[in-house]
Amino acid sequence: MSSPTIIDGRKVSKDIKNEIAEKVEKLKAEGKRPPHLAIIIVGDDGASHTYVNGKINACKAVGFDFTLMHFASTISEEKLIKHIEQLNEDEDIDGFIVQIPLPEHISVEHITERIAPLKDVDGFTNQNFGSIMSSHQLLLPATPFGVMELIRRYEIPTEGKNCVIVGASRIAGAPLSLMMLQDGRATVTVCHKLTKDLKSHTKEADILVVAVGKPGLITKDMVKECAVVIDVGTTRVEDASRKSGFRLAGDVVYDEVAPIASYITPVPGGVGPMTIASLLLNTFKAYERNH
Ligand code: GUN
Repeated sequence: MSSPTIIDGRKVSKDIKNEIAEKVEKLKAEGKRPPHLAIIIVGDDGASHTYVNGKINACKAVGFDFTLMHFASTISEEKLIKHIEQLNEDEDIDGFIVQIPLPEHISVEHITERIAPLKDVDGFTNQNFGSIMSSHQLLLPATPFGVMELIRRYEIPTEGKNCVIVGASRIAGAPLSLMMLQDGRATVTVCHKLTKDLKSHTKEADILVVAVGKPGLITKDMVKECAVVIDVGTTRVEDASRKSGFRLAGDVVYDEVAPIASYITPVPGGVGPMTIASLLLNTFKAYERNH
């Protein structure tokens, strides 16, 4: 058994940020304003605040302007929609996101569909989602776009390969299946909660992508020799030895799967950093369209 190539999402993400920072510097030198991202966060979910802080730090690092709008978890859906409509109209804002999860009384679908597609830098609206299958792709969802960018930058062939995606969420698995089909020209299987005999599918994968959020789900016996393994899972698990009290765990049992994989993404440091890089790329794209 040889050791796999470890896909370094931190490095790729850093490269992308450097590329964006250079472009922003150029804009500023020309006297133009930089791209401006707004972030709405509702409530006090610790993990969401950590993710949002990461997004803000990334904006700072590349020279984007940013606006953080934090609302109490008691805000009504109606009021939140008013804020979204204001952002839709605001010419100084190129793009914005509403951090998920939202409190139970607010429908993610209602909120998402009020975001102007050209400002939807998460790529969550139906229009942007549907554009994955078009020759004029608009703003693409960050997580699957990040996965595709890793595959592209590592020059991993996808055409005609068996790509098995475990997890059919609207944020990751479902849009990734379309990108793998449209851009990757792969043979795509999507597995989800109701899939019977998961292993019979995963075992056939040349490229296995797992986006469930269940640490330990994918063990060595479920993976084909020399498969490309992409782990999108990032679950906080208690870890008393850490200062924070937790660590991030993927869905793949890394130590036993890595020795038989050809490529593998670690958690953390694989797909995670790419989602923020994709958000920055989308914000830059929205800015360019705006100007
Ligand atoms: N919650 C988890 N991932 C995401 C994401 O990519 N965007 C938003 N808005 N919320 C999230």
